[in-house]
Amino acid sequence: MSLPIASPLTASPFQGAIGVFDSGVGGLSVLRAIRAALPHEHLVYVADSGHAPYGDQTEAHITQRTLTVGNWLVEQGVKAVTIACNTATVVAAKSLREQTHVPVVAIEPAIKPAVAVSRSGVVGVLATRQTVQSEAVARLVQQHGADKRILLQACPGLVELVERANLHSAETEALLRQFITPLLEQGADTLVLGCTHFPFLQDTIQRVAGEGVALLDPAEAVARELARRLTDCVSLSSATQMGQVKFLTSGDVAKVQSVMSHLWGAPLTVQALPSGA
Ligand code: DGL
Repeated sequence: MSLPIASPLTASPFQGAIGVFDSGVGGLSVLRAIRAALPHEHLVYVADSGHAPYGDQTEAHITQRTLTVGNWLVEQGVKAVTIACNTATVVAAKSLREQTHVPVVAIEPAIKPAVAVSRSGVVGVLATRQTVQSEAVARLVQQHGADKRILLQACPGLVELVERANLHSAETEALLRQFITPLLEQGADTLVLGCTHFPFLQDTIQRVAGEGVALLDPAEAVARELARRLTDCVSLSSATQMGQVKFLTSGDVAKVQSVMSHLWGAPLTVQALPSGA
């Protein structure tokens, strides 16, 4: 009688970690909030820079990339996925949630809190083309902005500047001025950073908008929601030492590593995302 050969159990390198992904480097603005809120968790971050920017692509392409990267992270054993990309959320978070058994926490433009803090009742939303055109954002505007003015501003070109760590140049300031000036002229006193790349432009945006204008980034709220979901649905790490953070990209590893180290504020090592992911 032949006995079945037991295959050795090989633990996935990301077993029990939290998977976080974005079209590129922008999701680091969410990752740093997660790291601050949940320092003992292992984190794995995927920058899908080989397919960025998502915001100018078709919905079909964004959905395909969101499902591919999200499902790949789940196959690697992550206990939760965070979509650190507004564009992927508004187009494809629902599809990913339908396909996966782990909690999926997804960032979306902070329209509700912006309406709450605006004194003028005029709120500007800076985001990608796909985000401002999405049904999900139309629903947020309907739900929270009924008696306010919500001005949706697509910002093509900004993601590419952040992907090159071009954050403070005259070119970046001029492009921001082009997007923000019409919002200020219509009375906006609050701007929603509706793309996770934009918090890295915060200083330049504030300079262009003026000190009196509030800038809203929901990254900390996403980290709090992730902590809540882990507590309720899976489990928090019981470790007392700092968790590890791993970085992968579908783009040019050397370039992405250089930009991500700059944005993260410390040298980090980026690995290539395996083909097929
Ligand atoms: N960080 C992504 C977001 O939040 C940028 C999308 C893009 O790649 O265009 O929407």
